[in-house]
Amino acid sequence: MKITIIGFGSWGIALACLLAENGHAVTGWDNPAYIEKLRKNGRVNEYLPKVVIPESVRLTDDVSEAATGAEMFVVALSSKAIATTAPSFSEHFTAEKTVVIVSKGLEETRQIRLSQYLSEVSAGCKIVALTGPSHAEEVAQGIPTTIVAASECEEAAKTVQTVFSSESFRVYTSPDLLGAEMGGALKNVIALAAGISDGLGFGDNTKAALITRGIAEITRLGIAMGANAQTFAGLSGTGDLIVTCTSQHSRNWRAGNLLAKGNSLDATLAEIGAAVEGVNTAKTALSFAKKHDVDMPIVEEINRVLFEGKSPKAAVADLMRREKKEE
Ligand SMILES: NC(=O)c1ccc[n+]([C@@H]2O[C@H](COP(=O)([O-])OP(=O)(O)OC[C@H]3O[C@@H](n4cnc5c(N)ncnc54)[C@H](O)[C@@H]3O)[C@@H](O)[C@H]2O)c1
Repeated sequence: MKITIIGFGSWGIALACLLAENGHAVTGWDNPAYIEKLRKNGRVNEYLPKVVIPESVRLTDDVSEAATGAEMFVVALSSKAIATTAPSFSEHFTAEKTVVIVSKGLEETRQIRLSQYLSEVSAGCKIVALTGPSHAEEVAQGIPTTIVAASECEEAAKTVQTVFSSESFRVYTSPDLLGAEMGGALKNVIALAAGISDGLGFGDNTKAALITRGIAEITRLGIAMGANAQTFAGLSGTGDLIVTCTSQHSRNWRAGNLLAKGNSLDATLAEIGAAVEGVNTAKTALSFAKKHDVDMPIVEEINRVLFEGKSPKAAVADLMRREKKEE
């Protein structure tokens, strides 16, 4: 199949390697300065230094070259870049095409999910979210990974399952696009909290509490929005939350860790360099919670730390001092 990946950062590159290995004709599109940088660096991205993009993968910064002839699109942009970049491709997102969204986040300006945004700007394509515990660094090395292709269109989810599956990449399908997307977007906010907890020197008890209470609040919001509760116990929910809160590869965990050590938000983002989606998602997650009248204490405290200058220590203290409750 001819597949174009829009957004060729760490995740786009890791998926390109997998798809090329599976025998597909892959094109990677990104902005001119970055494509030029990849070419100059011998087809290597500095965040994935051990991975050389295979010669069979075509690199381009030209939308029409990237889109012409593509049978499937994979959107691997940071969530912030989707609103600025996806519209230039939207005329190519026609009814017979499948658009696979692998970005994790929410659309800040319109306050909607990324698949809703793509569906609004597209020309009727089928949309699938491919999401779950899947660090680029590990997928690129062929480390066994499992993931979910979620779509309201069963046939499109099955096509994505067939195209991406390999001996080291096992793809399940799910009809719950909303639940899968919300799990993938919101786990990054909880991962910031897990990084803060580790940065403050707290222990495994605290992290287990954040993961468990974190999935509880994500599930509450998801159900209020119409998702299936069981989705949050699966790969795109608990699975992704565990990997993001416990892995050395997680940028959101690292960002939380730096914030806990007293770095400002700007210094933290500059230090990490690449997309820290939890920061982009936190505000929108909170407004979703307010709209659906759902209690999300961890998300609330993370917003205070990120945007109101609250100290991470005070945020933890306030979470511990909340009104006593039944679990
Ligand atoms: N990285 C992962 O392991 C992973 C896994 C699953 C989902 N995702 C999601 O996929 C989306 C994209 O994530 P990502 O990790 O690919 O982000 P990224 O920061 O690596 O890339 C995002 C964009 O940043 C630019 N960029 C990347 N590397 C650059 C460099 N070295 N120099 C200059 N510009 C550069 C490119 O324009 C690229 O499209 C996010 O929504 C993320 O949550 C990432």
